Amino acid sequence: MPSITVESCTFALFGALGDLALRKLFPALYQLDRAGLLHADTRIFALARENGEAQQHLACIGEHLLRHVPANEVDKAVLQRFQARLSYLTMDFLQADDYDALAEQVGSGERLIAYFATPAAVYGGICANLARVGLAERARVVLEKPIGHDLESSRAVNDAVAQYFPETRIYRIDHYLGKETVQNLIALRFANSLFETQWNQNHISHVEITVAEKVGIEGRWGYFDQAGQLRDMIQNHLLQLLCLIAMDPPSDLSADSIRDEKVKVLKALAPMTGEQLSQQVVRGQYVAGSSDGKAVPGYLEEENSNTRSDTETFVALRADIRNWRWAGVPFYLRTGKRMAEKMSQIVIHFKAPPHYIFDPEQRQLIGNKLIIRLQPDEGIALQVMTKDQGLDKGMQLRSGPLQLNFSDTYRSARVPDAYERLLLEVMRGNQNLFVRKDEIEHAWQWCDQLIAGWKRLGDSPKPYAAGTWGPMGSIALITRDGRSWYGDL
Ligand code: BG6
Repeated sequence: MPSITVESCTFALFGALGDLALRKLFPALYQLDRAGLLHADTRIFALARENGEAQQHLACIGEHLLRHVPANEVDKAVLQRFQARLSYLTMDFLQADDYDALAEQVGSGERLIAYFATPAAVYGGICANLARVGLAERARVVLEKPIGHDLESSRAVNDAVAQYFPETRIYRIDHYLGKETVQNLIALRFANSLFETQWNQNHISHVEITVAEKVGIEGRWGYFDQAGQLRDMIQNHLLQLLCLIAMDPPSDLSADSIRDEKVKVLKALAPMTGEQLSQQVVRGQYVAGSSDGKAVPGYLEEENSNTRSDTETFVALRADIRNWRWAGVPFYLRTGKRMAEKMSQIVIHFKAPPHYIFDPEQRQLIGNKLIIRLQPDEGIALQVMTKDQGLDKGMQLRSGPLQLNFSDTYRSARVPDAYERLLLEVMRGNQNLFVRKDEIEHAWQWCDQLIAGWKRLGDSPKPYAAGTWGPMGSIALITRDGRSWYGDL
């Protein structure tokens, strides 16, 4: 039995027939049920605009569940119990009268968790309607990204929600924070004095953060083309990773202690303009190429595409953090769709020893690297220098890993999906894996000035073939500083 106890609550999932709910939220709730982490009285209201028989919609949710939960994790008894918790209600989320039925069925007393898997434009309206029927006082609201598309629009959404909910009951999702390996960054940094003493500009030369995806746009062209890779991935996931790597040690694990430290990092990000922007940021857009040996179309040939779009599907950039700890240590960020493989990894490059005494030819090998692999093959490797073995080798050096592979080491444990962790933490009222309003706003502020700079420069994305590591400019970006992306040597 789990050592965590959870109180009974009622979930109201707005947008219950959307892709996110079907693919991630219901499977995550099912897994929580299977793990004994849903209270016996917990109920789930699936709310969506679609008319028709409730039974039909519930059957559709059930079908998707079976598609997204691995067969060996489907337990008939749990499935039955889980399905008995579900009800479906047709609602127009902006129609006040539609909330009466919800209020009536939810009843009084219990904690309500209102999850908004809808466009952010309706968040304010949902909050107002929940308040009107008296459901707001006992609700926590969960907001999906994207919250706005720039600082101004994100403020408008946050302000609309804040009229009805205090910050302590607002849970803004960045699903990367729910990934086990991302949470592990906190353990790695603050439970090991070995690393923390080295974690600054005296010992680290630069940091790389790569979040590469193999998939293309996959039917999401309409949304993605309005956003682009900077808004879709850098503004949230990559900046969150950067914060977890760069922040000072928080005084405890409370949500505000962690979030205060992250905000300090975001505030210290150096803005980029003019010449610096064109040297330090590279945008790309994929053209036709191949993935897994199959020909795939370019971004402008995808279904429903506008053939003249100049939205970027790739960004590489150099970010500098203006503070005592990180002065002179560039953070190279890189993310793209339709890249050579799906891989998220952080590489911390340590400086070379101050005095070099080995073979001059081997000098470029020197410098320890800490490689934190977030997905797939989650694990940590520390590249260390040793002497090559053998009588004929003299003092020849070799770089090899001290390695910890999570799935081999903790073989028995199933790695929970990020949404399982996040839904559990909402039930427990723990906000430390959620993003505070000021974090989102500082992240937007920094991204907005990049977007404004691109517009001023008339910068258009550079083409790269699908199935590669992005445009050549991303290599130039790092080689200009005398470095290369890890693995490119
Ligand atoms: C989402 C983005 O937030 O993250 C998607 O909107 C992206 O475009 C996805 O594909 C990546 O998440 P993960 O967990 O697959 O790395």
